[in-house]
Order: sequence, then structure tokens, then C-alpha cells
Amino acid sequence: MLKDMVNNLVMSLDPAEFAKVSLRFEADEIQSRALRSGSRKIILNCCRQFGKTSVASLLALHLAWFVPKSLIIIISYIKEQAQEAYRKIETFQSIMEDRPPDIEHSKQSMAFANRSRILILSGKEGSVRGYSPALIIVDEASRVPNETYFSLRPALAVSGGTLMLVSTPKGRRGFFYHEWKSGEEWERYEVTAWNVPGSQMSGSKQNVRKLARSGSDKSMSASLLKLQIICLIRSFSSYRSHRK
Ligand SMILES: Nc1ncnc2c1ncn2[C@@H]1O[C@H](COP(=O)(O)OP(=O)(O)O)[C@@H](O)[C@H]1O
Ligand SMILES: [Mg+2]
Repeated sequence: MLKDMVNNLVMSLDPAEFAKVSLRFEADEIQSRALRSGSRKIILNCCRQFGKTSVASLLALHLAWFVPKSLIIIISYIKEQAQEAYRKIETFQSIMEDRPPDIEHSKQSMAFANRSRILILSGKEGSVRGYSPALIIVDEASRVPNETYFSLRPALAVSGGTLMLVSTPKGRRGFFYHEWKSGEEWERYEVTAWNVPGSQMSGSKQNVRKLARSGSDKSMSASLLKLQIICLIRSFSSYRSHRK
């Protein structure tokens, strides 16, 4: 029982651990850092197949699951692209054991028993008006129009929520390029086919995922262990203070 409580606390504090234990998804080093970031402004500027959408989906599910009443909005240039992240969330959810059923589930929105909600929106300007999001994910952001992006900012300014831009780069204009180059306060993650940790300058994009995983395994296990210890210490002190 105590072990379950500790495990649960560790997972609630650490999305990468949640992914690993509950969803059997081993995030690599860069993915883990992005998942644990805690920043309010995160950019993943990575090549195709790196796992950007997977990371965004994991973060969405973790927040929805552990922080009641969280509203998470996934938006992209077309609804079908946003639906890809949504489907990943559904797949991850189906792996979770002992989860209570959603109280509502459609093709574009799911509501949890803890009153969190995940919904997808098409990239039409102004479509997030009236919402108070805890997290907005903009998938394939380099293809999303500037107007859509600027329409998201007021809702986030009010809610104080997190903004995650996820994309492969596309040219030298548009908000994604500008935020990446010179936007303030962003936590930036970049992975190209050339700078994947441990890669030997292989240009093959199909190999990216394989290289990313093999290259980061050693350093990841060291940093993961460190973080797990920190989380365990935090969990125990939190458990003890609850008992007092
Ligand atoms: N850490 C990981 N371990 C194993 N497979 C992964 C990992 N990250 C991503 N993948 C797989 O790589 C593929 C591409 O992931 P996806 O999130 O769609 O990438 P992107 O959005 O960057 O194109 C998917 O099949 C996904 O399940
Ligand atoms: Mg993707």
C-alpha cells in the first residue's frame, strides 16, 4: 500500500516515469528532459519521427490524469493533424491499468472523472476564445497560420497555462521560426538528423529514432536514476507531512 502510494507520487511528479511505468513508453534523454521541463513555454524543433507528437501526447495525458480540472487543447493546421495526437492519447490510455472509465469520449474531446478535459480544435482564428487552458499543444506549428497562434496568447495569458510548440522546421518565416530564433523565455529542444545524440552523422531520417535511442541510453539511465532518487525523497517528505 505504501509502495503504491510512493509509486503514484513519483509518477505524479515525473511525466517520464509515468510514461515508463504506466504506459510502457521509455522516453529517451531529450524526450525525458522535455517531459520533465516544468517550463511554461516549450518548443520541440525536431525532425520527423523523433517522437514530438508522442511527447506532447504524454504531457497532455499526464496533466489530465494528475491535475484535476485541467483543460488541455490540441491544435494544428488541420484537424486531422491534431487528431493524430489525440489518437496517441487514446492509445496510451488504453494501456493504463485500473483507470476509471472516461465520463465522456468523442472523436474530439474526452472528459475524465477528475473533471479534466482534452479537446482538439481546428486552427481557425479565435477558436480558443472563452477557454481557460492549462496546456495548449500546437502540433506541426510551422504550418499553423500566424493569426491562429496570436489568437491563442490571450487565453493563455489569463489562464497562466503552458504552451508547447511542436514541429519540424519549415522555412525562415512565420511565428514558429521567430519564436525559435528570438522568442523570449522559451525552453528549446532541437533534434535534427545530424545532431541526434550519439549519431555518426548519418543523414538517414529513418534511422533517427534508432540513433536517438541508442545514443542516449547511458546518459539517460544516469540522469533518470538521479531524478528518481530526487522524486522518491520528495514523495517521502510529502507523505510524512500529510501524516502529521
Ligand atoms: N522513446 C520512444 N521509444 C520507442 N518508440 C518511440 C519513442 N518515441 C517515439 N517513438 C515512436 O516513433 C514513431 C514516431 O513518433 P511521433 O511521436 O509520431 O514522431 P513525430 O511527431 O516527431 O513525427 C512512433 O511510432 C512512436 O511510437
Ligand atoms: Mg508528429
